Amino acid sequence: MPNASTGNITCMTGRVIPLIDVRTTLLPPRMPGELLAHGEVADRLGRPLRDLRISVTDRCNFRCTYCMPKAVFDSNYRFMRHADLLTFEEIAQLTRSFVRHGVEKIRLTGGEPLLRKDLHKLIAMLAPIKTHDGVELDIALTTNASVLARKAAQLASAGLKRITVSLDALDDTIFRRMNDVDFPVRDVLSGIDAAAAAGLSPIKINMVVKRGVNEHEVVPMARHFRGSGHIVRFIEYMDVGTSNGWRMDEVVPSAEVVQRIAADFALEPIGANYPGEVAERWRYRDGQGEIGVISSVSHAFCRDCTRARLSTEGKLYLCLFANHGHDLRALLRGNGLPASSADRQIDSTIAHIWSGRADRYSEQRSEATVTTPKVEMSYIGG
Ligand code: GTP
Ligand code: 5AD
Ligand code: SF4
Ligand code: SF4
Repeated sequence: MPNASTGNITCMTGRVIPLIDVRTTLLPPRMPGELLAHGEVADRLGRPLRDLRISVTDRCNFRCTYCMPKAVFDSNYRFMRHADLLTFEEIAQLTRSFVRHGVEKIRLTGGEPLLRKDLHKLIAMLAPIKTHDGVELDIALTTNASVLARKAAQLASAGLKRITVSLDALDDTIFRRMNDVDFPVRDVLSGIDAAAAAGLSPIKINMVVKRGVNEHEVVPMARHFRGSGHIVRFIEYMDVGTSNGWRMDEVVPSAEVVQRIAADFALEPIGANYPGEVAERWRYRDGQGEIGVISSVSHAFCRDCTRARLSTEGKLYLCLFANHGHDLRALLRGNGLPASSADRQIDSTIAHIWSGRADRYSEQRSEATVTTPKVEMSYIGG
């Protein structure tokens, strides 16, 4: 359990997991609030804004027990009204502003983003946007792949570059139990194949590991995707939101995941692809590809966090664990200004909000923070 005074967490084996990020920071040092080149801005901890995650719907057709438990997300749950969602035009307008502040990567999330009608049209609107250096945006999508098989080709031709598929088990019984809507593994695997055929690679596969639920699926997942060119990432179960009843003893630390896989296949660590990468990478020594582990609980990575999150109805969140978002939709809809003045107002608001950011929830996680109100992951995106 978490220890309130040290913030450290003792897992079931009695091992103490330090909650302080001990990795060497990869980002170049910045002055807090420093204005960087071309309108870019650093936050109060010197972190630039590089990555925008856009939630396009708060709905999902799965009820993963760690994300949208049925008991909370039932027929009485009030999802957002269509009129409250940002339109594709509004999302594109805000994206252009974020890009002026340094964003290079866009990840479309949900809920389940492929439930948003005509999502490929949004991708086609985002694809022509270039960074200040004239480079194309890295546009990625996180999906449960339930409808991916029939949409992959259309998404790729609209300009989607990469895809990440959530899959928590290869065992059909365990997977059906975890998604809680009886969805079969077979259809997710077909979605992955369709994405590969459409050129959306490298495909990443996210598995949230929960003690006593799917920990025995870690090695079978690694074995199945070894040599496929796809990259499985094992994610520590996190205390996002307030509805999943998170408990520390259900977290399987990444060190244990690596140990389990290494017992069957020799692994060695490899460096990050880019500063602030969330996953720690390991490769198979025999050249059969790589895996990643995402350790928000045992090895926080806030120090290099360059991610902003835009909710479905246009609120800007500075952290996955925040409980408050800044309403950008009001600026888009409410000011009656000509487009160029509205853009200037949005630009200065984003710069102001980001330069005031000091969020680092995972580094500060303790018994007390676990129960504080937080936004749901299905609303803000993964
Ligand atoms: P790439 O662009 O492919 O490198 O993607 P990514 O590494 O950002 O990974 P992805 O977007 O697939 O995120 C994987 C998982 O990591 C998410 O589903 C979350 O569980 C977790 N995660 C991502 N970003 C954050 C973050 O900022 N904070 C925390 N605590 N967890 C995060
Ligand atoms: N802990 C860790 N990851 C989570 N996700 C959702 N809820 C959690 C949680 N409690 C992530 C998973 C999923 C993505 C949509 O969100 O990676 O693949
Ligand atoms: Fe849906 Fe993804 Fe949440 Fe599962 S984890 S309920 S697939 S949004
Ligand atoms: Fe970024 Fe918040 Fe995640 Fe830390 S906990 S890495 S600050 S989103």
